[in-house]
Amino acid sequence: MENIGIQLKGRDLLSLHDYTPEEVEAIINLAGRLKEKQQRGEPHHYLQGKTLGMIFQKSSTRTRVSFEVGMYQLGGYPMFLSANDLQLGRGESIADTARVLSRYLDGIMIRTYAQADVEELARYASIPIINGLTDLLHPCQILADLLTIKERRGTLAGLRLAYVGDGNNNICHSLLYGCAKVGMNISVASPEGYQPNADIARLAGEDALITGCTVEILTDPSEAVTEADVLVTDVWASMGQEAERADRLKVFPPYQVNERLAALAKPDFIFLHCLPAHRGEEVTDEIMEGPHTAVWDEAENRLHAQKAVLAMLL
Ligand code: CP
Ligand code: NVA
Repeated sequence: MENIGIQLKGRDLLSLHDYTPEEVEAIINLAGRLKEKQQRGEPHHYLQGKTLGMIFQKSSTRTRVSFEVGMYQLGGYPMFLSANDLQLGRGESIADTARVLSRYLDGIMIRTYAQADVEELARYASIPIINGLTDLLHPCQILADLLTIKERRGTLAGLRLAYVGDGNNNICHSLLYGCAKVGMNISVASPEGYQPNADIARLAGEDALITGCTVEILTDPSEAVTEADVLVTDVWASMGQEAERADRLKVFPPYQVNERLAALAKPDFIFLHCLPAHRGEEVTDEIMEGPHTAVWDEAENRLHAQKAVLAMLL
């Protein structure tokens, strides 16, 4: 594999906060180069003979397919492991599962509920563990988002990103970490009671001081969106929060990303959504299908970002 000067072999990816700004930048840059290679049809079998286990305790379209196709394109073998079919589903401990799977596999991507479960898997495994989404964080998604913004703007540092909606979810939390690492100003607007985890906001704020950007936690969506380069939102009720959906639908409508709100952003703003989207709730059809949308590139970039993570860690 090409020498990129940054060594991540053997590392876990549990949270973007664990990575330095240079490491985050190296992953995004490698993702861009792997995308070019794939588009030119150049072989890049960096993971020949390697096997990735993929444990899913929640549904997935993009994460499953991008990791599976990505591993295949890198010359390795992806193995889908439904948590219900593993003995994990019958009570075998995470620690025992980690030690056994480490004897067969070269890495594990896991999507589950508790961040603590992913951390426990990583503690007992001797192979890299990749967080494919927890209730708290979704680092792989944000690497793809940063790649998408960089493709469209040529740079990340100094831009202004506004996240509007549920502040206390995986996407918002990983955006806080990711923006602070790359020096992109971030303003979050969410209703009282749905604001980001205070520790995550504080840690992102500390990183932002180092990279020279700002982290703002607000309640007013207009204030967050004004003069923003990038608008981001996510579902109002995440996976696992189905029982809260009716209550949330009463609180969140002022936080919908629509043409009226987006008119406050820069005229050439980019719209991102990790998908799946609930049109008519957190975002309108007009924005999803409008001239500013980058959501399909963003979804494609999951593949390239995942490949970069796999190539570097495995
Ligand atoms: N954005 C994302 O992670 O999509 P999936 O839930 O389909 O994997
Ligand atoms: N916040 C969403 C993201 C889905 C990719 C969820 O957790 O359901």
